[in-house]
Amino acid sequence: MKRILIIHGPNLDRLGTREPQVYGKITLKEINAGLKKVAAKEKARLVIAQSNHEGEIVDLIGKAAEKFDGILINPAAYTHTSVAIRDALCASSLPAVEVHLSNIYSREEFRQKSLISPVAKGTVLGFGPKSYYLGLEALLDLIR
Ligand code: DQA
Repeated sequence: MKRILIIHGPNLDRLGTREPQVYGKITLKEINAGLKKVAAKEKARLVIAQSNHEGEIVDLIGKAAEKFDGILINPAAYTHTSVAIRDALCASSLPAVEVHLSNIYSREEFRQKSLISPVAKGTVLGFGPKSYYLGLEALLDLIR
């Protein structure tokens, strides 16, 4: 059974009420339930974490190597700023898939650069919660 670490970055705990015109009304709990359904179908085991703190996310990635087979991450705002998270993913032997609810390339200019994409196996974005589900399926395909 493949083991996947899911990481939700800052402010994603506020989905549901946070800018619904951009992110929709789905809550993080509902996204996680959808991810668990995909995992059950694909016979994968998930550990799901959300953090508003960059260092905590770096620690999660750093400690993942022996416990997981892959990482699915929505780095949220850290996508555009975090050399530390990028370096942690680079240093990790695990394949990572980056996901975003929104299409960051159709938004403000400061969002149109991802420091994470070059070190991810692939990126799924713009499909709302489906970005997560497609990203998880793609990651599982990759490591199978
Ligand atoms: C996001 C896009 C980021 O620019 C933003 O800071 C987020 C969410 C997304 O999923 O669309 O917090 O990662």
